[in-house]
Amino acid sequence: MSQYLDFVDYNYKPSKKDMVCLFRFEPRKGVSVNEAIGRIAAESSNGTWTELTTLKPHIRRIRARAFYRRGNLVKIAYPDELFEAGSMPQIYSAIAGNIFGMKAINNLRLMDIDFPDSIMKSFRGPQFGIEGVRKFMKVKKRPMTATVPKPKVGMTTSEHAQVGYEAWTGGLDFLKDDENLTDQKFNRFSARAKSCAKMRDKAEKETGEKKDYFINVTGETKEMLKRAKLAANYDFRYVMCDIVTTGWAGLQSLRDATQDNKQAIHAHRAMHATFDRNQRHGITMLTLAKCARLIGVDNLHIGTVIGKLVGTKDEVLSIENEMEYQNVEEEFRKGILQENWRQIKPVFPCSSGGLHPGIVPEIIRMLGRDIVIQAGGGVHGHPLGTKGGSEALRQAIDAEVEGEKLEEYAKRPGMQSLRIALEHFGHEKPV
Ligand code: 3PG
Ligand code: 3PG
Ligand code: MG
Repeated sequence: MSQYLDFVDYNYKPSKKDMVCLFRFEPRKGVSVNEAIGRIAAESSNGTWTELTTLKPHIRRIRARAFYRRGNLVKIAYPDELFEAGSMPQIYSAIAGNIFGMKAINNLRLMDIDFPDSIMKSFRGPQFGIEGVRKFMKVKKRPMTATVPKPKVGMTTSEHAQVGYEAWTGGLDFLKDDENLTDQKFNRFSARAKSCAKMRDKAEKETGEKKDYFINVTGETKEMLKRAKLAANYDFRYVMCDIVTTGWAGLQSLRDATQDNKQAIHAHRAMHATFDRNQRHGITMLTLAKCARLIGVDNLHIGTVIGKLVGTKDEVLSIENEMEYQNVEEEFRKGILQENWRQIKPVFPCSSGGLHPGIVPEIIRMLGRDIVIQAGGGVHGHPLGTKGGSEALRQAIDAEVEGEKLEEYAKRPGMQSLRIALEHFGHEKPV
């Protein structure tokens, strides 16, 4: 086992060119802490289960080193030569690869990655980010809003486009496909793009506001790029991608295509909880979110805290910080490393999953105004239907921005939709 200890060096000072990963680990009974962290560093860089006759000094020089440990948190430094710049799949094959299946470690969790400049420079980052999206949507300060047609799947194209029209004219900025709607028989992608573009034009004319659509292009890579192009031909400034099911390679290809198409990417994170829900094993959402920012999504679902899906306040707020700021400070005990995002633009965080007008003020107070607030059931479950539900959602946002209590704001003339929403949903936090 001594070969593993060569990968542990508490005197090592990481250089600016190193990538630093923070792991939480639980060794199997009988495996010492140093052996465990040595194994993690070894298997994720250039070591294996036995001593090697092929290990030369130039190879040993670029090994990873576990260099700092407190309790069961350890920092490991990886010289950047270990990585192929601009390839997220290769980076994951190293730092999130074989190590998760080692018998000697019962549980392992990748908490965070601090990227060196050489890796940072090799990715595009968001094309638009918060400022760029606000500019093309012509919305200066308020939170932005979207709705997801419900039922999730099954609507025909014309039903879907009609929901879009009602949502847009009800005051929402974006229509958004659900994560499992792509190109099914009952609602083909190309027909949907065409019908929704027509409705968007009509809604823009009637409201005088800019409207757009997170149209779900998720699919096999070449097909996904075709769909993005088709959406661009209808002047949609956005595409939506289920980034976890698609995978980093597909997302990188989509990011390149959207540069030419001048489109922003709305990232849905369906399937993330397979990696991050178990607090003792897997990959944190913070890590996934950072990689998504680096590749270059413009929007990302970060959670709601008070909605229907899991995610603690600490977790959601730390992801929000990481998406919005250029400099993030280390909070070791919380599993957060420092980061300097340099030229990489901020990502617009989205809050979605069980939201409705009655809990909108709490979301804005917690997450601020740079947020896209999305509701499916909270719009289409409104007794007046999609249009009334959309009006109510927008009115709830306007009330909070104007600093007025929802109940008071709902008494103003023309605020009937909000009043009905409050009677119907109350302030319930869905579970
Ligand atoms: C693999 O890629 O399957 C492993 O790297 C095998 O390596 P080992 O035989 O040294 O464990
Ligand atoms: C999403 O994709 O974000 C969810 O489908 C939102 O749906 P809900 O508001 O009905 O929970
Ligand atoms: Mg959904």
